[in-house]
Amino acid sequence: MQLRQVTTLSLLIAIVFASAASAHNITRILAKHPEFSTFNHYLTITHLAADINRRLTITVCAVDNAGMADLLSKHLSVYTMKNVLALHVFADYFGAKKLHQISGGTTLTATMFQATGEADGTSGYVNITDVKGGRVGFAPEDNSGALNSYFVKTIEEKPYNISVIHISHILSSPSAEAPTAAPSLNVTDVMRLKGCKAFADLLVSEKAEDTFVQSVEGGLTVFCPSDDVLEDFMPKYKNLTAAGKMAVLLYHGVPVYNSMGMLRSNNGLMNTLATEGKNKYDFTVQNDGESVKLKTKAVTATVSGTLVDEEPLAVYKIDKVLLPRELFKAVKEELAPEPAPAPKGAKKKPKAKAKKGETSEDEDAADAPGPDGSEDEDPADDTASDENGSVRIRGVGMMVVPLIFGAVMFL
Ligand SMILES: *[C@@H]1O[C@H](CO)[C@@H](O)[C@H](O)[C@H]1NC(C)=O
Ligand SMILES: *[C@@H]1O[C@H](CO)[C@@H](O)[C@H](O)[C@H]1NC(C)=O
Ligand SMILES: *[C@@H]1O[C@H](CO)[C@@H](O)[C@H](O)[C@H]1NC(C)=O
Ligand SMILES: *[C@@H]1O[C@H](CO)[C@@H](O)[C@H](O)[C@H]1NC(C)=O
Ligand SMILES: *[C@@H]1O[C@H](CO)[C@@H](O)[C@H](O)[C@H]1NC(C)=O
Ligand SMILES: *[C@@H]1O[C@H](CO)[C@@H](O)[C@H](O)[C@H]1NC(C)=O
Repeated sequence: MQLRQVTTLSLLIAIVFASAASAHNITRILAKHPEFSTFNHYLTITHLAADINRRLTITVCAVDNAGMADLLSKHLSVYTMKNVLALHVFADYFGAKKLHQISGGTTLTATMFQATGEADGTSGYVNITDVKGGRVGFAPEDNSGALNSYFVKTIEEKPYNISVIHISHILSSPSAEAPTAAPSLNVTDVMRLKGCKAFADLLVSEKAEDTFVQSVEGGLTVFCPSDDVLEDFMPKYKNLTAAGKMAVLLYHGVPVYNSMGMLRSNNGLMNTLATEGKNKYDFTVQNDGESVKLKTKAVTATVSGTLVDEEPLAVYKIDKVLLPRELFKAVKEELAPEPAPAPKGAKKKPKAKAKKGETSEDEDAADAPGPDGSEDEDPADDTASDENGSVRIRGVGMMVVPLIFGAVMFL
């Protein structure tokens, strides 16, 4: 497999992994089969279960409790365990029939480990090979193709949404098993390292950091504007009073932990670190297909990436600065479908892809969505880009086009 193809595939996988509302519940599926209770348990504590439930087309290779003993004996940290188990989740649908009829008898498939961006080269891929006697073998690509695990049986198939299969052994891969550092719970560090440095610096220089830090233990969700977005906002920020500045900063923290799944399912009002009393400095979370939107009377921001999501701390990147109605002019509600907040001077977006959103002359300059940080390859991202700009993926139908397009162009 050539490097260029690998890179292209990565792009396609990012698209495949960005999918729609949960159609299945892997925890519930496996709960019916107690012999997979250990595997099921680790899917939950690594938060992979939630990721799996979000995907539309997926294959989960489960290992029974005896097989899991091999893995447990390695005493990996839960973060490393997550990488290993992510290797057992394929971005494609493989039912028993398809596994036994692989064209050419062998294929490479991308896994959720690949989609984390932590796997280098081809190490996030699994080689599936039909061997003599009707057996199907699996091998992580960075394990020199030595088939070390075999298809045992189907656990559950819902073509072409989810296939859960029993495989004989853990797929062991040096890169997935490499020690992984625990994600930092240092809020400002997380932001600095993952594309919200300007916001982190501002929290520190304005002495708002402590309020965030002290909230982590009890659960904290931070929405940080990306660097370019914040830079555009600075003239307006500088115009605020000291109290106004502090309020705007604290407005970006929510003193409750919210996973992406929770954000997607809990629409409604959210209090913030700036909230003092009822109806003060709150905003509304609203889902629009797969994307999570944060609405104030003055602006609607979209969550564009996940910097960290490890209970008790979640930090998400947003494409606009959140403007509390207490400090900024409200944009009038529109009843008809609203026009897209077109980034001025940026790449043109086809009208058909316009998103609902509020916009006003006043906001455009400060809040033009900037290019997404490229370090931000989180599989939970609800957007995927093609070369022509931003395309929001909302379901299978829309996934097919970029897939075919990419396949024809590059493969
Ligand atoms: C999935 O099923 C488990 C067990 O039945 C349940 O605890 C969990 O809340 C479900 N998750 C979702 C997202 O529905
Ligand atoms: C998978 O591994 C086998 C060796 O076990 C190799 O013959 C085959 O070419 C590999 N398949 C792919 C698609 O790389
Ligand atoms: C697959 O998912 C789609 C969309 O969520 C749903 O409409 C369909 O019924 C599912 N198919 C099966 C077999 O569960
Ligand atoms: C977070 O890390 C920075 C340095 O990277 C350090 O200065 C700061 O004190 C840390 N904050 C906490 C709360 O540990
Ligand atoms: C700052 O405030 C002044 C006075 O209210 C106003 O005229 C000016 O346009 C504001 N500047 C920005 C960048 O908002
Ligand atoms: C995307 O851009 C390429 C050239 O850069 C063009 O050939 C292609 O038709 C465009 N696709 C869409 C969907 O606009």
